[in-house]
Amino acid sequence: MPALTVAGQSAAYLEAGRGRPVVLVHGAGGRGAVWAPQLAALGDVARLLAPDLPGHGATAGPGGQTIGEYADWVLGFLDAAGLARAVVAGHSMGGAIAQTLALAHPDRVAGLVLVGTGARLRVLPRLLELLREKPPEGLALIESLSYAAATPRERVVEADRALRETPPWVTLGDLLACDRFDVMDRIGAIRAPTLVVVGREDRLTPPKYAAYLAAAIPGARLVEVDGAGHFVQLEQPAAVDAALRGYLLSLP
Ligand code: COA
Repeated sequence: MPALTVAGQSAAYLEAGRGRPVVLVHGAGGRGAVWAPQLAALGDVARLLAPDLPGHGATAGPGGQTIGEYADWVLGFLDAAGLARAVVAGHSMGGAIAQTLALAHPDRVAGLVLVGTGARLRVLPRLLELLREKPPEGLALIESLSYAAATPRERVVEADRALRETPPWVTLGDLLACDRFDVMDRIGAIRAPTLVVVGREDRLTPPKYAAYLAAAIPGARLVEVDGAGHFVQLEQPAAVDAALRGYLLSLP
């Protein structure tokens, strides 16, 4: 896995393709590989970079405590990669990071892709409690809420593997950061061309959250995907790849 130096530490990432830079930001307890289908399918229209956030995958560190901290880290990743501007795509917590970046540094965000996320991400108190006190049960609850009923388990191995290999306290820190995230009253200030994607069976960030994002961000396009839950990009990769491809080709 290649690595860059961000904030004095090694930052691992996956990379594919050539052209317009697209940074793919994973969610809570995740890692860059949760974007594997998009890395494999979209290299002809973009240069895709999918970092492992601090404390996740092959990037060391304690994990972030706030979405702002992670957004600063992604900004450092853009700097380290020599990217003055990039399309920033984020899944779940990664979507919160992408929104934060687009609001704070609009000059660096050429486009925004929000996948299975929301402008406010309150977390089930029971989930936080289990992760704190009985981590295996907390992880099992996350898995039970993550996928559509009919999703074959082999399609989501990257998500399962990332969640199992991320230290539970890092995932807990991620979810506490999500729980404090709320830009509902500011999200309309985003001017980047925006694509919003959600699985129709998403129970962690329901379609209502995506509809809110698409209604509030001027000109945003909403794509709802059948037969997918929270990990829509792994559960229905062809639909997500097609939406992303159309979006990337539509950018000026
Ligand atoms: N976009 C649009 N609407 C939102 C929203 C978002 N991002 N976040 C909350 N809302 C809406 C809710 O739907 C609710 O609307 P309603 O009053 O019409 O029902 C209202 O704002 C208040 O919601 P919330 O602050 O979330 O409080 P709650 O007491 O209704 O529910 C939870 C709290 C945790 C049960 C709920 O947020 C939930 O089910 N979350 C999803 C599960 C989860 O843990 N996800 C992890 C995300 S990383």
